[in-house]
Amino acid sequence: MANISIAQLRKKKLNQQKITALTAYDATFARLFAKLGVDVMLVGDSLGNVLQGHDSTVPVTNDDIAYHTRCVRRGAPESFIIADMPFMTYSSPEQACEHAAVLMQAGANMVKLEGGEWLFDTVNALTTRGVPVCAHLGLLPQSVNVLGGYKVQGRDDEQANTLISHAKGLEHAGAQLLVVECIPTALGERVAQAVEMPVIGIGAGKNTDGQILVMHDMLGLNSDYLPKFVKNFLADSGSIEGAVQTFIDDVTTGAFPGPEHSFD
Ligand code: KIV
Ligand code: NA
Repeated sequence: MANISIAQLRKKKLNQQKITALTAYDATFARLFAKLGVDVMLVGDSLGNVLQGHDSTVPVTNDDIAYHTRCVRRGAPESFIIADMPFMTYSSPEQACEHAAVLMQAGANMVKLEGGEWLFDTVNALTTRGVPVCAHLGLLPQSVNVLGGYKVQGRDDEQANTLISHAKGLEHAGAQLLVVECIPTALGERVAQAVEMPVIGIGAGKNTDGQILVMHDMLGLNSDYLPKFVKNFLADSGSIEGAVQTFIDDVTTGAFPGPEHSFD
């Protein structure tokens, strides 16, 4: 069992202590993140970009995520690990259950899915069968070809209200954690208040219950394109360990993200 549980993440939310999360893809970084006390590690399908060199997450397979989940689990035997379900591996509840089983058996504590209302049945099917679910709303990178690019989501009232109602519906269906990506600060705060499950933001402002970044981005390794919400924590701290520690400290104290890393 992980040394941090969903119950503890919930308690952090209640006590207004920020949750720290980073992506992890291999045993060495997972070991370091565990040693420094990162609360949650995500085996993100962002590995399609940062490890595989694709220009989206669409080519990533369930076996890719399972392989990296096994690597991360070996490096961090006690940590809370979320595995991303890749593009088109959860288009029906049955298909989702089959693929989630592989990820759970690879060592994940929870799986993450991108989408709102269309996933209510799937979230229910997974959670009733013993698979904890993290939902993901706002910018959905797997849908980049429908969205027409990586853009801030939920800026108008109708979109914002839809996001809130989908968050509530996903929680009602059984989701126990929510990631929100690239939404205005005010909406990040609203969604965190609207649900009991902890809400972890990326580009969602400082008022969500926690923060996540892609590890390569926070180490300044993504040279060609840096989204606004990314901060290079290595630049000032001089070592990888120092960068991760500063990220943890700055998220915990609320120093990160600042307005320069947030959208209105
Ligand atoms: O794949 C990923 O890294 C993610 C985070 C950006 C939340 O889904
Ligand atoms: Na992802």
